[in-house]
Amino acid sequence: NKKFTVSSFLKAKQKGEKISMLTAYDYSTAKLLDEAGVDSLLVGDSLGMVMLGYENTLQVTVDDIIHHCRAVARGAKRAMVIGDMPFLSYHVSIEDTIRNAGRIIQEGNAHAVKLEGCMEVIDKIKAIVKAQIPVMGHLGLTPQSINVFGGFKVQGKTEKQAKRIIEEALMLQEAGVFAVVLECVPEKLARIITEKLDIPTIGIGAGKYCDGQVLVTQDMLGMYTDFTPKFVKKYASLCEDIKNATQNYIKEMKEGIFPSDEHTFGIDESILEKLY
Ligand code: KIV
Ligand code: NA
Repeated sequence: NKKFTVSSFLKAKQKGEKISMLTAYDYSTAKLLDEAGVDSLLVGDSLGMVMLGYENTLQVTVDDIIHHCRAVARGAKRAMVIGDMPFLSYHVSIEDTIRNAGRIIQEGNAHAVKLEGCMEVIDKIKAIVKAQIPVMGHLGLTPQSINVFGGFKVQGKTEKQAKRIIEEALMLQEAGVFAVVLECVPEKLARIITEKLDIPTIGIGAGKYCDGQVLVTQDMLGMYTDFTPKFVKKYASLCEDIKNATQNYIKEMKEGIFPSDEHTFGIDESILEKLY
């Protein structure tokens, strides 16, 4: 199967084929998702919550992203790997921004970076694009701005907000980003943006008209339940599977059922005699 690349994103939109994207933070999960045929794997800063148990994404560092990206990149044969730029890694100087994005590519082995927002960081976005690093945008509910929004809330419900998101999507396209994530915006606003843009929109809580969808894998698999937003659909209940399997293991171990001969190594009787 051919590798999914930045140009595959654009081609998919032109052909009207939906783009599938999921988060991944480790090698074995990335390998499974890749083998299942997902087009793109996002090493999201959601790893702070899902993998590291933080309350939000703000404590994630560039080194965290690189560490997880390297693992995901080893598991992804076909899928395009995108590394999230964490909070404050693209807000200070242009030089630091390019270095941080560059490290996610060079050390993390990602194919592209994603970052949140537009107007406040447009000069940084242009600089990363100029450095030949593909950039994915992210508008709507941008979790790194949680303290500014005052919580996880749907964005773009007022005329002013909606117009701003449309304007920013066009500005991102103009700046050279190859796709835009739309998070928690009304479905019909996401539809307008999707129709206005030549680059694909990837929705999460943004309805069915986006050119693709992304979910946090642990949400989709039902194995992260600290917080489940309305837009999550659970395609499995791994929480229960994992708990059941674990209880079974403990029980069988205590009852002496596990390990049985099947999972045990032998030794020659003649050698054994000499060991007592
Ligand atoms: O960090 C993340 O997982 C994300 C997606 C939810 C888009 O940014
Ligand atoms: Na993110």
